[in-house]
Amino acid sequence: MKIKEIWEQRAKEEPPEDIVFGRLQGTRLKEILKESEAREHVKNANEEIAKELRVEGKRIIDAGVGPLARFSSLFSELGAEVIGVDLSRAVLESAKTALNGRRVDLTLADIMNLPFKEESFDISFCVGTIFHLPGGQQGVEKALKELARITKQDGIIYFNVENYLNPMSWTQIFGRKILTLLGANMPHHTFFNYFSLLKIIERCGLRVIEVKTTFELWGPLLFLPTPILMRLFKIWQPVSERISKISNKNGFLRFVGVGWYLRVKKME
Ligand SMILES: C[S@@+](CC[C@H](N)C(=O)[O-])C[C@H]1O[C@@H](n2cnc3c(N)ncnc32)[C@H](O)[C@@H]1O
Repeated sequence: MKIKEIWEQRAKEEPPEDIVFGRLQGTRLKEILKESEAREHVKNANEEIAKELRVEGKRIIDAGVGPLARFSSLFSELGAEVIGVDLSRAVLESAKTALNGRRVDLTLADIMNLPFKEESFDISFCVGTIFHLPGGQQGVEKALKELARITKQDGIIYFNVENYLNPMSWTQIFGRKILTLLGANMPHHTFFNYFSLLKIIERCGLRVIEVKTTFELWGPLLFLPTPILMRLFKIWQPVSERISKISNKNGFLRFVGVGWYLRVKKME
């Protein structure tokens, strides 16, 4: 099945939360979000990203907008001009409903080949998506080059990827291998180590401005019963935020985190 068809089918058959957070994680998140204040945590995390990017008045592409359009929605509310791009028509329909009248220009397009001129955007934003593109690390490199092309010289590219050296990723890596062997149609998922990531960024003519290392407790813990998972989520959330902050000063923690949110710029 072609990658476009996989996303199209998922958008038609799966709850939007599953598409945004992953099949198992999405379902579990929905269970624990109902009963705890975790929804507030997710909202705060997204608002922190928007604050850090100073989105007001900026022209932003949300590449891989997703069926909840959660970032496009927030950026638009904060006064940005937002263009939400997705490969799937069904995702865009769901995003339109989720936006509930907020102004975001939704465009059907492939991140690998975007229908925008050079230097069209102040911010190219690509969260939860770039590692799903086909072609492994080379595919991610190609997509980063395309995002760099459409970003202004003094603009920002913001994206996230995950670390294969972290044990939390291993359940995903092996789980995906087994499911694929069993015939499941799954989007690609490319993992990195910190050095391979830095090399790719450099080859794209980009430099890192800021890295936020994440330490979420997911992986095998997703199989725990809901009450235990809820408790763990509540306890771990503030701890993981703290470690994440410390990792900005202590480089070593970057190598072991679950993943990274990166703010990069074009080289001068
Ligand atoms: C996991 S969701 C993330 C959605 C959103 N960025 C978020 O964090 O809430 C990935 C999205 O990327 C879209 N997508 C996957 N490959 C794409 C491509 N090559 N071009 C554009 N969108 C793509 C999928 O259709 C899906 O909506």
